[in-house]
Amino acid sequence: MIYEDLKDKRVLVTGSSSGIGAAAAVLFAGQGAFVGVHYFQTKDGGEKTLAEVKKYSDGCLLQADMRDEGQVERLIADFVKAAGGLDILINNAGTLLGRVDIEAMPTEHFEDEFATNVKSAFLATRVALPYLKQSKGCIVNVGSVAGHHGGGSGSGIYASAKAAVHTMTIAMAKEFGPAGIRVNTMVPGLIETRFHEKFSTPQRKAAVAKDTPLGRNGTAEDVAKGILFLSSNDAAGFITGEYLAVNGGLYMRA
Ligand SMILES: NC(=O)c1ccc[n+]([C@@H]2O[C@H](COP(=O)([O-])OP(=O)(O)OC[C@H]3O[C@@H](n4cnc5c(N)ncnc54)[C@H](OP(=O)(O)O)[C@@H]3O)[C@@H](O)[C@H]2O)c1
Repeated sequence: MIYEDLKDKRVLVTGSSSGIGAAAAVLFAGQGAFVGVHYFQTKDGGEKTLAEVKKYSDGCLLQADMRDEGQVERLIADFVKAAGGLDILINNAGTLLGRVDIEAMPTEHFEDEFATNVKSAFLATRVALPYLKQSKGCIVNVGSVAGHHGGGSGSGIYASAKAAVHTMTIAMAKEFGPAGIRVNTMVPGLIETRFHEKFSTPQRKAAVAKDTPLGRNGTAEDVAKGILFLSSNDAAGFITGEYLAVNGGLYMRA
């Protein structure tokens, strides 16, 4: 797979110490992009991703808690210093913090779920915007199928946060379009990463695969390929404010 226009692009992939972000970082490197590999707590994961990136291209390793404004400012400044600018921002960092019913959820947990999944993408985007305006770059936010159907047991607030990401994408696409910046959402279904090792039993994963028209759960690479498509101006240059669902048909909307 070669998207010629991604060669030499400066790409920051948040949450690339693991799973979908790691797969996207390596695929971008395969196109000849300079890749900012970001981690929060999993330093060895970040180092592993960077080593893979360097097999194909170049990149740098960056650390930040994406909920923290000061750390996000430092992250973007360090990336721009290393790369000389920023063309593509992938707001992938995020997670379900735990399966907790709404009825039993402490306010702090609610706030943290939104900070981890929504504020993180908002902060990175706002801080990166001056550089994206210079490059007429693009943004891919990572939402979730949960944002469409409300999530499974104990993930309702995570689902609500991801729905906010979907809507924020549309708002960003409207606001940044005149500056030549495209913004889209990647919407994964059940993807076999560390996320579901933590939060789903093997039985649940097997049951979801059985209910999926294509008969399996997704891989991180399935999603990463969609992220590359949305990032390429050659492939998706007239697509903005949209979402791309990669879920094997698990959830379809007309
Ligand atoms: N797997 C699925 O089925 C699925 C489905 C729909 C949507 N998604 C979304 O896809 C994205 C990637 O998930 P994944 O499946 O690849 O999970 P993952 O393997 O657990 O990766 C999550 C990434 O997010 C980072 N992260 C979490 N909290 C952070 C914070 N406060 N600040 C900075 N980074 C933070 C983690 O960093 P460290 O490990 O370094 O701490 C890690 O790199 C997430 O936004 C997730 O919600 C996943």
